[in-house]
Amino acid sequence: MLIKTLPGWALPESAATPESLFVNRRRLIMGLAAGSMLAGAAPVLASLARAEDDPNAGLYPAPRNARYVLDRELTSEDDATTYNNFYEFGTHKKVWKAAQKLPIRPWEVVIDGMVEKPITIEADELIARMPLEERLYRHRCVEAWSMAVPWTGFPLSALVDFARPLGGAKYLTMRTFQNPDVARGQGQSWYPWPYTEGLTIAEATNELALIVTGIYGKPLPKQNGAPLRLAVPWKYGFKSVKSIVRFEFTETRPSTFWEEIAPDEYGFWANVNPEVTHPRWSQATEKVLGTGESVPTLLFNGYGEYVADLYDGLADQRLYA
Ligand code: MTE
Repeated sequence: MLIKTLPGWALPESAATPESLFVNRRRLIMGLAAGSMLAGAAPVLASLARAEDDPNAGLYPAPRNARYVLDRELTSEDDATTYNNFYEFGTHKKVWKAAQKLPIRPWEVVIDGMVEKPITIEADELIARMPLEERLYRHRCVEAWSMAVPWTGFPLSALVDFARPLGGAKYLTMRTFQNPDVARGQGQSWYPWPYTEGLTIAEATNELALIVTGIYGKPLPKQNGAPLRLAVPWKYGFKSVKSIVRFEFTETRPSTFWEEIAPDEYGFWANVNPEVTHPRWSQATEKVLGTGESVPTLLFNGYGEYVADLYDGLADQRLYA
């Protein structure tokens, strides 16, 4: 496992995007976007989406939600955007250049399965309709490195409301694009592409579950999973599926990417727990991206107060790997 050990140049938390300055501008833009859609101007967004220019660029930086605080310094933008896991573009950490080949406009998102009415929507239009905010979150990779970043996004619960799932839906499955012409890793047929992840509906509607559209007060770079990726900070990072094209509501639990590859090492639940050892390494500590400092890993990555009760009555499940 590669861990980058650079000198400590992480930004202090206070250096991330300021909270209130941009609220009014953003509200104005959101109001205009909502208004023009009501006036039947959705095709304008659709045609803008044909270019690589982001019609939602004016929504960043979004107002910060002060509820989510960090116990550590923010990782530098340079580190968080140049040390990545994105197997579609390679199994090493320097995939950021290769990921630039991914075309993200247009980007159709399908919301289907057990819903009142399946929807196909352009990602830019979906983002314009959702309540964007900035949150400072920790991220703990199963490989025992971690970072702390200012994501911009919207609560996954807002997408669940928008989707109107049927009463019998128990899981939300999320899938990455499939395009081996640009994502050379997808030419490796022994991996079960497309990358698939899933949550229970209770997890998906937990307040922490975020669909990320930006980072460091800007639209999300491709290597971090543009245009839409998940952030579930109480779980190991592999649950946070990138570049999502489909949200499917199901009654049965999906088979997920890493679970299919190595079920003994990577399960469905994958909640962070320092006491449950990975078959090949300890999870007791983590290396902080950028500084290389080793710090203790926390149960649920420190988010137990928000999520521990999701797992009441599930002690028979392999919750922590
Ligand atoms: N999503 C897809 N589609 N492909 C991937 O390889 N890697 C996962 C997750 N989401 C991955 C993915 C893993 S293992 C981690 S730790 C995080 O993305 C890394 O996110 P980052 O590169 O933004 O830090």
